[in-house]
Amino acid sequence: MLFAVSSAIAGVWQVKPERVGRNWHYYDGTMYVIALGEFAAEMAKTLTPFIPDRGSLLDLCCGPGLLSLHFAAKCQRVVGLDHALGMIRYAEKQRRRQGLKHVSFVHGDATDRSAFADHEFDVVILSMALHEMPLEVGQATLAEAKRVAERVVIADYAAPLPRHLPGMVFRYLEFVAGFQHLHGFLKYQRHGGLDFLLESCNLRVIGETDAVRRSIRIVDVRAVN
Ligand SMILES: C[S@@+](CC[C@H](N)C(=O)[O-])C[C@H]1O[C@@H](n2cnc3c(N)ncnc32)[C@H](O)[C@@H]1O
Repeated sequence: MLFAVSSAIAGVWQVKPERVGRNWHYYDGTMYVIALGEFAAEMAKTLTPFIPDRGSLLDLCCGPGLLSLHFAAKCQRVVGLDHALGMIRYAEKQRRRQGLKHVSFVHGDATDRSAFADHEFDVVILSMALHEMPLEVGQATLAEAKRVAERVVIADYAAPLPRHLPGMVFRYLEFVAGFQHLHGFLKYQRHGGLDFLLESCNLRVIGETDAVRRSIRIVDVRAVN
């Protein structure tokens, strides 16, 4: 009920994004963590084998930084980037609370080519973000990911999303996230999800697993030479 009411309000706000800033969502920060914290913990466990020990990690579209903070123990350097200020503020607060000096959070756009140097990181993770982006933004984000690291690990919805209970819960969450979000999700599903995006960006899958009863695909990708 709370989500449905919030979604309606968010939908209205998003019609006039200049009121609140383009990258504001009603669920940024604490609400996201309450709704999806457990899911992020499962995701972190599944992603662990893909993250090299003592490496440098860029968590692109990091949201409230749950994955960045989780991998702080495994990595020498972690940077989380997100364009939603509410998410970055939440992540930074947790970082300070945990006293993690080798972790930083950046408020910025995933497609901004000036943020990092070529091959600055060992690995980029891009978790649960491509499905909410317009196609060309998703492609620009993948281009940026493969520029800053040789290894890119992506977690996102399977397409089609299975019709079991977790699949229906994910559909519901996409619905209540607001009109723009839902629009991106439906387009992502229509285009065939990750495979279409990877192919259009010359990325090849070299390892793959899944999570939440095959609702989420996790792919380890490299640029095709
Ligand atoms: C569903 S959340 C996933 C957060 C986190 N990666 C996780 O798995 O818990 C998607 C995040 O992508 C961010 N995002 C979407 N488009 C972006 C862009 N162009 N640049 C930076 N962040 C973006 C949103 O602000 C949101 O925090």
